[in-house]
Amino acid sequence: MGNDGFGAYNIEDLRLRAKKRLPRGIFEYVDRGAEDEVALRHNTAIYRSLKIKNRVLADVSERTTVTELFGHKFAMPFGISPTASAGLVCEGGEVGLARAAARMGVPCTAATSSLTPMEEIYEAGDGNIWFQLYMWSDMDLTARFVERVKATGFETMLVTVDGPVPSNREYNYHNGFAMPLRYSPKLIAQVLAKPGWCLRVLAPQYLKRGPFRKVNNPPELASKLTQVEVESAYTKPAAQNWDDIKRIRDMWPGNLLVKGLQSSEDAVIAADLGLQGVVLSNHGGRYLDSAPAPLEVVPEVKAAVGDRIKIIIDSGARRGGDIVKAIALGADMVMSGRPTLYGSAVAGEAGSYRALEIFQTEMDRVIAQIGVNGIDELGPHIFWNPPDWIPKGVVAS
Ligand code: LAC
Repeated sequence: MGNDGFGAYNIEDLRLRAKKRLPRGIFEYVDRGAEDEVALRHNTAIYRSLKIKNRVLADVSERTTVTELFGHKFAMPFGISPTASAGLVCEGGEVGLARAAARMGVPCTAATSSLTPMEEIYEAGDGNIWFQLYMWSDMDLTARFVERVKATGFETMLVTVDGPVPSNREYNYHNGFAMPLRYSPKLIAQVLAKPGWCLRVLAPQYLKRGPFRKVNNPPELASKLTQVEVESAYTKPAAQNWDDIKRIRDMWPGNLLVKGLQSSEDAVIAADLGLQGVVLSNHGGRYLDSAPAPLEVVPEVKAAVGDRIKIIIDSGARRGGDIVKAIALGADMVMSGRPTLYGSAVAGEAGSYRALEIFQTEMDRVIAQIGVNGIDELGPHIFWNPPDWIPKGVVAS
């Protein structure tokens, strides 16, 4: 494995180590959800609740987890979700994520709000980097930004559409934590309690890059992560609508996906607009607390859009077996953001790679145990006693 795995044998091990290393406000910002965290818990619980049948004596000696999406071969049907906070858990964290993904051969998504320039992340990613776009309320500004994304070389763009208004995360108030970042007395106390984080993350950040900034923001927007007013005037545009997506479709020749929808109605609109895919997501349980888990809505979305567009899901996968279940239900790829962030907090690029390695080896082990040699052999037949929301005869892609 090229390292000792940091004594982490699963994603939860990485999570607990990350918790020890990060100031509380930052760890909870990464780790927690919205309101009562019903969606957050449900996202992982639903994976656990599905049982799959072992199949024996099936000669699985030639098995592979490799998949193909948008003309690229990936080591497994897993990608790194966009997250705004990699630079808060590890200095230049986004670059480490991109390098880890390139080494494993899976896609990694650079976020609009990342603390490292998109060009630097793209370079580090060896062609496996996708871009996540937040539309600002000024669509001309957004359009100019999309031109920059295109010029950088990105081929695949995910537009996050589930944040017309900010979400409700009460623990952030308790912790004195806000994004954009504000150095409240509580946060300062939490930071001082983790001198290791100050040495590893804060000091090199200031020495190499200056204060934490949303460096990708166009000059019209405040670039300091601490300038709340300007930021909030432009983000979370409540007026965003499908016409905005049409406009982006017209100017983006590459693969275009919308991220954050969960209904078959919206997925059909996305397909009708000529998008290449949807990312079914409840934002890791960070927005609508009564949302279903993306895993549960895959069958109805698949029934509605068939093979017209790709179905990617995120939110909740923590084991390689979870990827197997999602693909068997008809998803084309699974994404997740927190696992590699935990890894990044533990050991930068090597820690993120460790998270990916855990997913890949677990997935490989599970397909062997269920007698499957490749992802095209996965389908609803693998489930034992499936619940009602898995319709019989649902077609896996
Ligand atoms: C969040 C935004 C940044 O979930 O995506 O915090």
